[in-house]
This record gives sequence, C-alpha cells and structure tokens, in this order.
Amino acid sequence: MFLYCLVNPGFEGRLKEEASVRAPFLHPSFSRPGFVTFKVLEPRPVPRMTFARVLGEFVGKGGEEDLPGALAEGKGRFIHRFRLAEGRGSGPDAPLGSEILDVVEVAEGQFWWGHRKVGPWDWGCPGGVPNLVLPELAPSRAWLKLEEMLLWSRWAPPPGTGALELGSAPGGASWALLNRGLRVIGVDVAPMAAVCLDHPAYSHLGLSVRDVRKKDLPHPVEVLFCDLGLKPVEAVPQIRHFCHILPSLKRVYYTLKMGEGLDTRNLDGWKDAFVKMGFSVQTTHLPSNRLEIFLLATR
Ligand SMILES: C[S@@+](CC[C@H](N)C(=O)[O-])C[C@H]1O[C@@H](n2cnc3c(N)ncnc32)[C@H](O)[C@@H]1O
Repeated sequence: MFLYCLVNPGFEGRLKEEASVRAPFLHPSFSRPGFVTFKVLEPRPVPRMTFARVLGEFVGKGGEEDLPGALAEGKGRFIHRFRLAEGRGSGPDAPLGSEILDVVEVAEGQFWWGHRKVGPWDWGCPGGVPNLVLPELAPSRAWLKLEEMLLWSRWAPPPGTGALELGSAPGGASWALLNRGLRVIGVDVAPMAAVCLDHPAYSHLGLSVRDVRKKDLPHPVEVLFCDLGLKPVEAVPQIRHFCHILPSLKRVYYTLKMGEGLDTRNLDGWKDAFVKMGFSVQTTHLPSNRLEIFLLATR
C-alpha cells in the first residue's frame, strides 16, 4: 500500500523528516515538488502530519485515457482535481466526515489518484488550498494566513469577540478580524495601516509586547493571535504571560517561526509547552505559510 501527500512546494524534505519521526514504517517513494508518496511497510495507523496538507491512500496512476476508470472510484465521494503546476484545485468543499477522491495532475497529462476521509483537522477543500483571494485593500498577506487559520480550525468567531494580536503591523490579520466584526487590540512597535487605526473597533498599543500590562487592554480578550517576528524561545514566554494574566483566553492562534533548524522534535517540545498551559494543541503548515507553522491551542 502507498500513501500520497500534498505539501507546500519546497517542504517535501520537512515532511519526510517528520514522517521518519512520527511514522518510521513509512518509506519515502515517488516525490516531486508539492507531492510526496510513501510505501507503507507495516499496516499501522498513520498519524496526522503537520507538513501534509492532504494525506490519502493511493489507488492508481495513469494518463488522460485512464481518468474515466479513476473517476469510477469517486462513487459516493467528493471528486477533487488538483494541478500541481498551478497549486490549485477544483471541486466542491467536502464536509467533516465525508470521503474525497483526489485526482492529482502531477505533470502534464499524468495523474495519480486516491482517497481520504475528512477528519476534524483536515482540509475539506480541493488539495487543501482554500479558494481565497487577497483583497487589494489588505494591508499585508497576513490576511490570507488569518483567513486560512480560521477556516482550517472551523471556527467562525462571533461578532463582538475580543481579540488580542501580538505582532499586528502592518495589519492584514487585524483587518481580517475587524471585517469579521471582532474587537481587536493590536500590539506592535512598527507602523500600523490606517484602515485598522481608523476603525472604531480597533485599539493599538505601540509598545514592545514585553511592556504590555493587563491594565493597558481596553476590553476583555477571548482569543489571542501571535504573529511576532520572534523565535519561539522569545515568543512562547510572552504567550504564556498573557495566558496567565488573561484566564478567560480559550484559544491561541500562534504563527510559530521555524527558523532553519527547527525539526519535528523541537516542534513537539513547543507543543508540549502549550499542553503544560492546559491547552489541546494542533499544528499544520497552512498553504500560505513558508518558514512558519500554525499552532492552534484551545482549552
Ligand atoms: C510577520 S509581522 C506581523 C504581520 C501582521 N500580523 C499583519 O497582519 O500584517 C511580525 C511583526 O512582529 C513585530 N514585533 C517583533 N518583535 C516585537 C516585539 N517585541 N513587540 C512588538 N512587536 C514585535 C514586528 O514589528 C512585525 O511587525
């Protein structure tokens, strides 16, 4: 048996390293940018992997002429097509618990197909790439990251929710939250976009995150977003501090900066740090993430 994974191009090696730690019974096989397959050496449950946007069971491969046979596998399943060359797919979003037939065009006219079931921490959209377009007015590409985080975590924050964003400038993420009706406190030493500063539901603290005190926060906070341009060794103690002074915090959305050296065991160490704070933790490499990982902590 073989498995196929879709991965952000350039991160195939990171996925193989992760598999060697989490599932040593998987042996890397055919791979190309954005696509990695593994031979399953022992029939054991396969754990979720941070770097696999999509992970499924391989069924077959072939050319255009083989597609009608491949699509017959789609009975009762959502059919998703994905073109590696474009990094985009097509097909209806599949809800939690449903089955998908993925047909991946790995090179012009060459297809691999297989199936997967949508679990709570899996994308239900084609290729694990939601159909988002960065609005022209967005102050930064962090808008995409923020929207992907909320979609992946299947959480639509109720309007009026109080959010704190550490590392908010220039403001793509805060702007996304404001557009969703949240009240946002941004913390950053760098300049913030006027579309955020002028918004009535936005408050800015132009301080280092280290200098923010509870009394500086103008309203209660239910969710923390952290996108600080700091290594985890500096960012996580700041998050811990806010979780301590704000016991009402139920969710943390943390963009963990990987740096060059961070491997699977280091990542697990940072996940443990959140578990010790009383959170359940999930991680993924969002489609718009590069040298960073999205860590979701909920309690
Ligand atoms: C990746 S950018 C944040 C992007 C932002 N979330 C957005 O939506 O546009 C990282 C930010 O962390 C900020 N930062 C780094 N160290 C900081 C500190 N000690 N206190 C406050 N902000 C800090 C930087 O000024 C920078 O604006």
